[in-house]
Amino acid sequence: MAQRVLVLGGSGFLGRHLVAKLSADGHDVIVLTRRRNRARDLFLLPTVRVVEGDPHDSATLARWTANATAAINLIGTLHEHGRDTFERVHVDVPLALVAACRNAGVSRILHVSALAASSEAASAYLRSKAAGEAVIAESGLGWTIFRPSVIFGRGDSFLNLFAKLAQMFPVIPLACAGARFQPVFVGDVAECIARALIGREGPPRPTDPAPRGAASGSSVGGSVNDDTIGQRYPLCGPKAYTLEELVNYVAETSGHPRPVLPLGPALANLQARVMELLPGPLLTRDNLASMQHDSVCDGPFPRAFDITPTPVEAIAPEYLAPLALRSRFDTFRSQSGR
Ligand SMILES: NC(=O)c1ccc[n+]([C@@H]2O[C@H](COP(=O)([O-])OP(=O)(O)OC[C@H]3O[C@@H](n4cnc5c(N)ncnc54)[C@H](OP(=O)(O)O)[C@@H]3O)[C@@H](O)[C@H]2O)c1
Repeated sequence: MAQRVLVLGGSGFLGRHLVAKLSADGHDVIVLTRRRNRARDLFLLPTVRVVEGDPHDSATLARWTANATAAINLIGTLHEHGRDTFERVHVDVPLALVAACRNAGVSRILHVSALAASSEAASAYLRSKAAGEAVIAESGLGWTIFRPSVIFGRGDSFLNLFAKLAQMFPVIPLACAGARFQPVFVGDVAECIARALIGREGPPRPTDPAPRGAASGSSVGGSVNDDTIGQRYPLCGPKAYTLEELVNYVAETSGHPRPVLPLGPALANLQARVMELLPGPLLTRDNLASMQHDSVCDGPFPRAFDITPTPVEAIAPEYLAPLALRSRFDTFRSQSGR
């Protein structure tokens, strides 16, 4: 059943993939962004409206939740910036969105957190993500929370960052080289959110766990007994890698195989301190603290979505290998004097 969905963070990496998917599925989508111009490529999608506004502002949220049947929150940041602390971005936004949904009678909310989010985590990022989850889980709305490991796909900032570093430097000094990740494909994450949004008609399948935190038989946007309500879903790809393995793979695939130099804790800390001074830092000490927690799943991909997760190797070459081709052309050009 077509929904009218308000998406916060729809202009980002996951957001663009999700909004395109929701539009293709025939939902009416409103993307609220702080800078409308930056989301220009979404303008052409049928059924999508991009509106500018502050996601902290209650009047703005009241306006755009007024006719919505569901809300999706993808807003997140890896770095605090000025007044935009982790608390403000990861906790205050969910608080404001939950309040607006309650006032407007929007009963369904989907929220993206992070796999290792925990109030006990070593990093402020992961602790604030856990606090944001708590806001959603205590909202009394029909909620679903997604906890992805690192997400890959065209336009990602993770694999593309290492491709860029391999292109620029002869050696890659790497903090937390042994940290483990289980990258999940952006298309799979978007598919899970889209499927949870429409729910499933009819009673839950007997093999699925009982929904938590929601009254059974609740009705959302026309679907009944939606068994994703009240659930937290860890989302991981089929295989776990160390950071060093991923960096080696990316460097190789993008045509710039480089030696990786694993850094011990003291040097890693120094590297992060220096990088924190740069604008839009690539690495902070809080990022290092996040990597103390493995970002890997305990079990298989959630059965509720009927998805076989996509391996890195099936997708990443599509956007990393052209970088290799381009650099070969650059070499030919410089050798031929052009
Ligand atoms: N990418 C990953 O590997 C990964 C892994 C685990 C979890 N996650 C989570 O998944 C969600 C989506 O990730 P993503 O990679 O798509 O992120 P992204 O590309 O950085 O986009 C994040 C969105 O959040 C909004 N945003 C950022 N800082 C904000 C601030 N200070 N105030 C208000 N809005 C702000 C931006 O919206 P506007 O600029 O349009 O206003 C942007 O569209 C996030 O919650 C992230 O924490 C991502």
